[in-house]
Amino acid sequence: MSEDFVRIFDTTLRDGEQSPGVALTAKAKVTIAEQLARLNVDIIEAGFPAASEGDFAAVKAIAETVRGPVIAGLARCLPGDIEVAAAAVEKAERARIHVFIATSPLHMQAKLRMEPEQVLEQADKMVRLARSYVDDVEFSAEDATRSELDFLIRIATLAVKAGARTINIPDTVGYTTPDEFGAMVAAVRQAVAAIDPGVIVSVHCHNDIGLAVANSLAGVQAGARQVEVAVNGIGERAGNAALEEVVMALTNRRDHYGIATHIVTREIYRTSQMVSRMTGMLVQPNKAVVGLNAFRHEAGIHQDGMLKNRQTYEVLRPEDIGVPESLLVLGKHSGRHALRQRLNDLQLKCTEEELARIQAQVKSLAEIKNEINDADLEAIWADVVLGVHEPDIHLEHWQVSTGNDMRPTAQVSVRIHDRVFEDAGFGDGPVHALFNALRRALDLGDAEMRSYTLSPISPGEDGLATVRVEIAARGLTSRGQGTASDVLAASVEAMTAAMGQLLTRVRGPVVA
Ligand code: KIV
Ligand code: ZN
Repeated sequence: MSEDFVRIFDTTLRDGEQSPGVALTAKAKVTIAEQLARLNVDIIEAGFPAASEGDFAAVKAIAETVRGPVIAGLARCLPGDIEVAAAAVEKAERARIHVFIATSPLHMQAKLRMEPEQVLEQADKMVRLARSYVDDVEFSAEDATRSELDFLIRIATLAVKAGARTINIPDTVGYTTPDEFGAMVAAVRQAVAAIDPGVIVSVHCHNDIGLAVANSLAGVQAGARQVEVAVNGIGERAGNAALEEVVMALTNRRDHYGIATHIVTREIYRTSQMVSRMTGMLVQPNKAVVGLNAFRHEAGIHQDGMLKNRQTYEVLRPEDIGVPESLLVLGKHSGRHALRQRLNDLQLKCTEEELARIQAQVKSLAEIKNEINDADLEAIWADVVLGVHEPDIHLEHWQVSTGNDMRPTAQVSVRIHDRVFEDAGFGDGPVHALFNALRRALDLGDAEMRSYTLSPISPGEDGLATVRVEIAARGLTSRGQGTASDVLAASVEAMTAAMGQLLTRVRGPVVA
């Protein structure tokens, strides 16, 4: 008898990447996918290959390099999408094509402009087409929770007969409630199991009213054996069900749910940090499982209880999700060998040239900070290796003058290939002055700072800080981040990265 477990289908790189302002490079996507493989997710939805050439290239790169999980590519029920998805996942160890079509009256009429019978016919043909490329086909009924149950069951059973092995029930707009959703999942499961008991029913819940995790768990209780989630709950609008919350609920309350996942939970914290850093989407401090405060105890009564017995106020143990104990790893005298060893231990890959740049940053940080811990090192690695900078744009020089009786003034000089752009600007504060100087230098007069956040990487006055910005111009938004021990240096780095990305998207690849 085969083992009963809940498959974790991670859609951080597809639905998660659809979060406004997030645009991961192919290299960043492969790095995240490698970490998802270490986390031991069962399926990685690597992207939507037909969406753009960049999406196609990223899915293909993941399929070619990442081993372990099934690699899925999303496709609408259109022949072109399915052909492109098939080509993108072709080299995967185990490939899946995930096809979807909307099934609610509202979506069929207003969006697809198709009659229900046409939707059924299209789904049938497209599942068969996908099956002509791969054995593993998933079918999703978009907006399932606002669909008529009879129609949902008709399309789900038709998809199974056409060859789909997973039937996904998405709560596309975060509309349903746990008991209502549980009943829907149970009904679909009963219908598809009557045709093929081996078919997996899956759930995919959005968080518009904060019920994504509760709804996903209700789905599991009703028999779903795949849950679609994103790390840190990122995704369209209010996001998807958070991987770490679903997994820890199932793990911690195994007594209640009676079913396990294959997730290596001690990799959760690192995965969460990596996704946050690379997408620029901060984890709120009170976020369940992975937030900064998740294991902090403030009230005296709680601290007293914790000292006596941790279980008094902690239902999860930090070590179970891999929260590091701030290991002291390096100081100013640490050599390249120790640095390489620690990076290897942390599974952070880099070339010799990148290692030299990381070492230079470690040394300058060690001038002002005695102890450099794993979090500092990971932040420096991300800064150097993952290119928080637009590769073609380099900040050459910056300078700010400020004081209690002068208007802050900044000068910047930026190089794009061999051309140097420089200008100066005033502002209400030094960051604002730097922003204005960059905006003038790069001729992005309509650029607006949508958000600016500053977060310490490690505690203490002398630690590194990361600045994340979201900048909008010409109707586009992009994010950038910078890490340095000087807040202004981190700010100008973040703004340059975001503006560099905007320039590429507005004008195409920046050329000399
Ligand atoms: O939310 C949704 O309906 C989706 C589908 C494509 C599965 O993301
Ligand atoms: Zn979705």
